[in-house]
Amino acid sequence: MKHFFFIFTLGSMLLFSCTRDKITPIDQQCNSTISFANEVLPIMEANCVSCHQPGNVSGGYDLSTYNAISENANAIIGSMKANGYQLMPIGGPALPDSTIQKISCWISQGKQDN
Ligand code: HEC
Repeated sequence: MKHFFFIFTLGSMLLFSCTRDKITPIDQQCNSTISFANEVLPIMEANCVSCHQPGNVSGGYDLSTYNAISENANAIIGSMKANGYQLMPIGGPALPDSTIQKISCWISQGKQDN
C-alpha cells in the first residue's frame, strides 16, 4: 500500500508539471506589452540584421531600425511563418513559435516604439 501511494504521488506530480509546461510558453492573448527595444529589436538583430542592413539589403529589405522594421512588419511576420513570403531566416529552421508570437503581439499592439 505504501508503494502504491508513493507511485501515485510521484505520478500526479509528473502529470501536473507536464500540464503546466504546455500552458506557460506562448502568450496567445498578448497579455503583456511587448517592448520594441528589449524584445523585438534583439530578435531581429540576432536572426535577421546580418543579412538585412544598409550595405547588405538582401531581397531589398533593410531590417535594422525601428522605421524599417515597422514599415516591413507584414513581410517580416510573413517570412517568419513562410506565409506569402520565402521562409526566413533563409534556409530555416523557422524561429520558435514563442518568438514569432512576440513579433505578432508587438504588431497587434500597434507597433509601438517602446
Ligand atoms: C543568411 C542571410 C539571411 C538571414 C539571416 C535572413 N535573411 Fe531574409 N533574405 C535573405 C536573402 C538572400 C533574401 C532574398 C531571397 C531571394 O530573393 O530569393 C531575403 C529575403 C527576405 C525577405 C523577402 C522574401 C520574399 O519572399 O519576398 C524578407 C521579408 C526577409 N528576407 C526577412 C527576413 C527576416 C524577418 C529575417 C530574420 C528572421 C531574415 N530575413 C533573415 C537573407 C537572409
